[in-house]
Formats: sequence, C-alpha cells, structure tokens
Amino acid sequence: MIIRVATVEDLMGMQACNLQNLPENYHLQIYLYHILTWPSLSYVAVDDKGRVVGYALAKMDEDLAEGDEPHGHLTSISVLRSYRRLGLAKKLMLQSQQAMSSVHKAAYVALHVRKSNRAALSLYRDTLGFHVEEIVKGYYADGEDAYSMRLAL
Ligand SMILES: CC(C)(COP(=O)(O)OP(=O)(O)OC[C@H]1O[C@@H](n2cnc3c(N)ncnc32)[C@H](O)[C@@H]1OP(=O)(O)O)[C@@H](O)C(=O)NCCC(=O)NCCS
Repeated sequence: MIIRVATVEDLMGMQACNLQNLPENYHLQIYLYHILTWPSLSYVAVDDKGRVVGYALAKMDEDLAEGDEPHGHLTSISVLRSYRRLGLAKKLMLQSQQAMSSVHKAAYVALHVRKSNRAALSLYRDTLGFHVEEIVKGYYADGEDAYSMRLAL
C-alpha cells in the first residue's frame, strides 16, 4: 500500500472510489480541476495492483470573504470499505494538510461533514484535532445539516 500525490491518471480510480462510498459525487472535470489547479493537495492510497483504494480531494478556497486568510478546503475523502481502520484516511489528510501549509501558506483547513457521519466526525475531531465552527442547516441535498469544521495549520 502506498500513499502518494494524485495525478491525472488516478481520476477514474478516485471517481470509482467516491461512487462506491458517498452520495456526494462529482463530474470528472471537478477532479481534473482540483488536480491541475492544486497539484500538491490531493492524495491517493494505492494497493499493490495499482488500484485506488482511498483518496483525499482538496483545494485552496477561491472565494475568500473580506479579511479571511488563505485556507485549504477538503472537498471529499473516502476509503474503500475493506481498507478502513488502517489509518489511511488519517495519512491522506495529514499529507494534504502539510502541503496546504507548506506550498500554499494556508492558515487553516476547512471542511463539511454530515452530522450523522460518526466515523468521519471522529476522524476529524478526535484524530486530527478539527473543531466545529458552525452548523449549516440543510447543507446536503437530502436536507441533512452539516458541521462546518476547521483546523488551524
Ligand atoms: C471516514 C473514512 C474516510 C475514514 O477512513 P479510514 O481510513 O477508515 O480512517 P482511519 O483508519 O484513518 O481512522 C482514523 C481515526 O478515525 C476514527 N474513525 C475511523 N473510522 C471510524 C468508525 N467507523 N467509527 C468511529 N471512529 C472511526 C478513529 O478515531 C480512527 O482512529 P483509530 O482507528 O485509531 O481508532 C471512511 O470511513 C470512509 O470512507 N467513509 C465513507 C466516506 C465518508 O464518509 N467520507 C467523509 C465525508 S465528510
């Protein structure tokens, strides 16, 4: 198993992984845009056959409010079911956060997570040290609220 920066060759594998794991899905152009615009921020976990088993898709936030500092944003992360609880998501996040800070001088990283997503909440809050910035009512397409979370870098 290796974790490395995502490249254009990984797009289909990342999308396949996303489709298996999450209801929030994206057109291939979105993956391509992330990888071409912020080539150091997205990472993949790849098995010994070269198959993408997990990814973190990340970017720098482009819509800064007045006075806001440059910051990273985690667009999506997932790990295939049979590869979970091995520390892959933690490693993918740490790699991306490190690059946000060192390459883009991000002051913090932000993300949204469903209020009901206990695994992801535990990853962000307990393992990585994120805090809840606010609750965004009806953020998801099905009406579920999101926690807007942040971690200072
Ligand atoms: C959330 C997700 C990415 C975690 O991936 P993972 O590789 O299994 O996570 P890790 O092994 O790095 O776990 C790190 C920590 O997160 C927490 N965690 C992970 N899965 C958990 C679970 N099912 N229940 C409770 N805590 C969990 C634990 O604190 C864990 O540390 P520990 O194993 O030492 O206890 C994975 O469950 C997943 O792909 N879920 C579906 C997609 C998704 O919800 N993505 C997030 C959208 S915001």
